[in-house]
Amino acid sequence: MIAPSILSADFARLAEEAEAVATADWLHVDVMDAHFVPNLTLGLPVVQSLLKATDIPLDCHLMIEDPARWAPPYAEAGAYNVTFHAEATDDPVAVARDIRAAGAKAGLSVKPNTPIEPYLEILRDFDTLLVMSVEPGFGGQSFISAVLDKAKIVRRLVDAGELRLVVEIDGGINADTIEQAAEAGIDCFVAGSAIYNTADPGATVEKLRSRAAA
Ligand code: DX5
Ligand code: ZN
Repeated sequence: MIAPSILSADFARLAEEAEAVATADWLHVDVMDAHFVPNLTLGLPVVQSLLKATDIPLDCHLMIEDPARWAPPYAEAGAYNVTFHAEATDDPVAVARDIRAAGAKAGLSVKPNTPIEPYLEILRDFDTLLVMSVEPGFGGQSFISAVLDKAKIVRRLVDAGELRLVVEIDGGINADTIEQAAEAGIDCFVAGSAIYNTADPGATVEKLRSRAAA
């Protein structure tokens, strides 16, 4: 699956930017609060408008503090998947339960230097795992390939039937890096600058898709 990140889109033309990637599987929406990460993007009102503007399922990536308070409203609004950060809460299972109760898939994200081992047990309470392959906060950074070791650990558990989970990667994905991520067992690839900083974002979605399948 390919999930274009609108972080690299034109925020004044979000409906058209969604339309430009109409064949995408998910549309990745980066919510940043200037506390969990040193950047500020958009919040619930913009997500509510986007939900009316596109049929592509929204994959909301919350880079925010206090997800227990702020994450469930994204699910209530109609986001398809709501991902929050393991580093931002002491009780990720409770947050996942509230997201699911509000009608969305629940995702857990880990920053590049956060080990996955402490979270393997609780991944059964999630629908997606978002492995960050850059430090969250900004688009256009270089891919950190060392995080693929975490993806491989989780891929093995999924293949063994011990977990049911979409394994997603975010940061520095482009036509050059997507193949190694695919080999590590990634199911869903987020790409921002590699898609929106091209003349034809829709064609780039399909190019990335074929590279991942190669
Ligand atoms: C970064 C965001 C990413 C970002 C990726 O904190 O979570 O979704 O848009 O951008 P690229 O694909 O340019 O690395
Ligand atoms: Zn993201």
